[in-house]
Amino acid sequence: MTDKKEVILSGIRPTGRLHYGNYFGAITNFLRLQEADAQCYYFIADYHALTTITERREIFRATLDMLRTYVACGLDPERSIIYRQSDLPCTAELALLLGMVTNIGHLERGTTYKDSLAKIQDDPKMEGNPLSYGLLGYPVLMAADILIVRADAVPVGDDQRQHLEMACDIAAKFNHRFGEVLHIPRPLGRDALRLPGLDGSMKMGKSENNTLDLLDPPDVVLAKIKAVPTTTEPEPLDTDSNDPEFVIGKMPPGVGVLYRLLSLLAPEEVYLEYLDLYRQRGKFYGSLKKTVAEHVSKFNAPIIESYNDPAHNDAFIEDFLRENAKRVTPIALETVERCREVMGIGRSLFRA
Ligand code: TRP
Repeated sequence: MTDKKEVILSGIRPTGRLHYGNYFGAITNFLRLQEADAQCYYFIADYHALTTITERREIFRATLDMLRTYVACGLDPERSIIYRQSDLPCTAELALLLGMVTNIGHLERGTTYKDSLAKIQDDPKMEGNPLSYGLLGYPVLMAADILIVRADAVPVGDDQRQHLEMACDIAAKFNHRFGEVLHIPRPLGRDALRLPGLDGSMKMGKSENNTLDLLDPPDVVLAKIKAVPTTTEPEPLDTDSNDPEFVIGKMPPGVGVLYRLLSLLAPEEVYLEYLDLYRQRGKFYGSLKKTVAEHVSKFNAPIIESYNDPAHNDAFIEDFLRENAKRVTPIALETVERCREVMGIGRSLFRA
């Protein structure tokens, strides 16, 4: 037995503002893993952002803002290694090496690639030439991210599961050809919650324009919550259970979002009190909305305060990124050098 800590890695694309869907889908998971006795690597996938034309603008700005939000939420640079993908440029070198054992057909069967292809064909007016080599190679770069730190486990949502499988396939193929050099990780299902959108649709998402953002100030929170559609009267719930997982699906969609937020952000007795009101089927949506908005604003007040703390300025975030890049680089270079060696080009003689 060694006392080596389990290595966990996850990447997030720099999408700018974070919303409550991101918070309960990913950030809470990161915080939990950070508390456990694991070595966590979290990085902002800014190279990956370059594959999507709509995300290309101001990636650096979005990266800094996102990191500041993570720090405000409690991600701790002392315990986790939090870096920017492009500050570890040897990832691109590893992606190049892995590309040598990756079949084009394998990449063309990726569902994300196929979806992008379909979208592009539907919308021929899209600016630039979006069908890039980079887009096809997205899973190879992702494999490099994972393999370079020799991750044991990668927490992924359903949308990234196939990419992770492709990464494992690429690693297995590399090892088969060149020897057992790469460490093959396992997926870590994240018992994440999928938060519905404020419009009552299935999922809160930036492109769906239905988000409650983590940094929304109280007046914006109130306005957004007031606008949640609640025209439908309560129907009998058909169950004695108070479990939000169970009852929320039985409510009209907009109302369900409000109860979901209440169950996550307010004390349990407040949630139960409103569930009672729902069961009595009175007129209470106005008061429910006010209460939800209050609890949202109580929850995010410290996050907004930390985000706006002058100490957490751009220079602080850049320093933090530089320090973390320094911590991860030796580990990453060891992997890349090993791969170079077994592939036959030998270790690098010079590195800038
Ligand atoms: N593709 C992931 C996403 O869209 C981000 C990502 C890039 C990632 N590299 C990764 C996630 C490595 C996990 C591991 O969300």
